[in-house]
Amino acid sequence: MSVTVRVPAKVNVQLAVGAARPDGFHDLANVFLAVGLHDEVTVTPAGELRISCEGPDAAEVPLDRSNLAARAAEALAARYGLSPDVHIHIAKDIPVAGGMAGGSADGAGALAACDALWGTGASRDELLDICAELGSDVPFSLVGGAALGTGRGEKLRTLDVGGTFHWVFAMAGRGLSTPAVFREFDRLGEGLDIPDPVASQELIDALAKGDPDALGAAVSNDLQPAALSLFPELADTLAAGRAAGALAALVSGSGPTTAFLARDPESAAKVAEALRSSGTCRTVRTAAGPAPGATVLGG
Ligand code: C5P
Repeated sequence: MSVTVRVPAKVNVQLAVGAARPDGFHDLANVFLAVGLHDEVTVTPAGELRISCEGPDAAEVPLDRSNLAARAAEALAARYGLSPDVHIHIAKDIPVAGGMAGGSADGAGALAACDALWGTGASRDELLDICAELGSDVPFSLVGGAALGTGRGEKLRTLDVGGTFHWVFAMAGRGLSTPAVFREFDRLGEGLDIPDPVASQELIDALAKGDPDALGAAVSNDLQPAALSLFPELADTLAAGRAAGALAALVSGSGPTTAFLARDPESAAKVAEALRSSGTCRTVRTAAGPAPGATVLGG
């Protein structure tokens, strides 16, 4: 018997970042939108906890207990006095170290899958608590849709979305480490007065209306200068997408994936084609949002 859970990638349509806190984290106003690029996490009872992974980036995925999927299984098992002896298989389609919460998706996916396999009866809030311990973006991977994350991003308020938004994602030739991008944010902001992060009401209204032009005008990412400082070539990718008619072009989260909002599927296809032929990125994908959170497919 096994359980498979499908779990989405995310793009941050707003990422407002405050000054570093005493614990090293940063307070955020983080508006997440789940998009239709997915990993599938399958758990099967086994002699001991182990992980395997397939997909184009599989070689870059750690298969030891540092993987968030393994940590999720261990955390849930510890809470219910169970042994975490499962084989976790990740069919990976979300870029690794890309700023699209691929690792967080696997953590949330493994948690939901183990929960279904073991029949723990854990409440949604308990699962969300475990997610928050695993990482700042993991709770959102469980719930999907759209949400405003505050605190370090783990305190979620669900947001209404009144339509489908069409996106193009350009994957870069190498990854960026999230802690390194936050460190660069701190370095660039040294001596400056960093305001407290505030969610944009225009952006929340644009999501609620399903209005791509208004959303395109409102998106922002405070980590973008830091990501560009560490990875200057991303500016060429952003320019190529803008020139092809994207309503907005921004770095996704801590990057280096770049995200392009399009008015409709035809325009998304045009932006995707222009990015493919620009020679400024490794792969290009289109995906629509919002997408549902972690979903059990069957056993
Ligand atoms: O929470 P998570 O483990 O995903 O965070 C990865 C790293 O990103 C943290 O170790 C920290 O360096 C940085 N981070 C941060 N502020 C946040 C979220 C993440 O500084 N709100």
